[in-house]
Amino acid sequence: MLVIGNIPEFRAARAALQGRVGLVPTMGYLHEGHLALVRQAVAENDHVAVSIFVNPTQFGPTEDFNSYPRDPERDLQLLREAGGALVFMPPVSEMYPPGFQTYVEVTGVSQGLEGARRPGHFRGVATVVAKLFNIVQPDRAYFGQKDAQQVAVIQRMVADLAMPLQIVVVPTVRAADGLALSSRNSYLTPEQRQAAPVLYRALMAAKALFDSGNKSPEALRQAMCDVLNSEPLAQVDYVSAADASTLVELDSPTDRPILLSMAVRIGRTRLIDNLVLS
Ligand code: PAF
Repeated sequence: MLVIGNIPEFRAARAALQGRVGLVPTMGYLHEGHLALVRQAVAENDHVAVSIFVNPTQFGPTEDFNSYPRDPERDLQLLREAGGALVFMPPVSEMYPPGFQTYVEVTGVSQGLEGARRPGHFRGVATVVAKLFNIVQPDRAYFGQKDAQQVAVIQRMVADLAMPLQIVVVPTVRAADGLALSSRNSYLTPEQRQAAPVLYRALMAAKALFDSGNKSPEALRQAMCDVLNSEPLAQVDYVSAADASTLVELDSPTDRPILLSMAVRIGRTRLIDNLVLS
């Protein structure tokens, strides 16, 4: 496995590869959710590149950039086992050298939900992902459904800017009790970790309502809120039932797929989760 921290060396290693290249962009502190992306990329491509970069431009000034969990040695060991052959692990100065002043901004789909609560977040995501695509030149790039709005923003960017690659979306990996895997789960105390599957239970309650024939978006949002409010440690940031492709909040039933999503604080940890109903 090659581990490279600078762009010219990475480009040289990439140029030597024949066949299809899959990219898995990550911020490290890898878990089974990331490894599912890597395994799928290994199965579908001739070579797999993984980037590990905690991207400062997607964190707000009061967010957890400095405390975001990092364990590069463990990440590299996991990648050796999963088969990621080429790892790009640049320092911040390589991605954002002095004088950097170009950003990618996707409008529409990046504005509601997470975008409304985390100003600048998707501008940072789109910028770093576009730069990674330019550096790695992948045929396919792999993202988790857990970050549904991130997927929508990246798909929009790729379509709008005619980027020559395919975006592959991989289902959310969950713990046995339903909690979606996330590097930020490591912030939870044991008591908070026990409370955290309430997000999944809320999604399941709304799905049960939908499956029973109640397709009212307001009823779906209420069903999620009722479950979340039954957990004393959970503080709801938002719940949403939106059109799954435009991410516009729904006010009446639709035949199009619905994205149920939420952000919930448990202690100081902000968790997100989602489910598509169709
Ligand atoms: O999903 C993530 O881990 C990050 O947002 C990404 C796509 C690696 C960009 O920094």
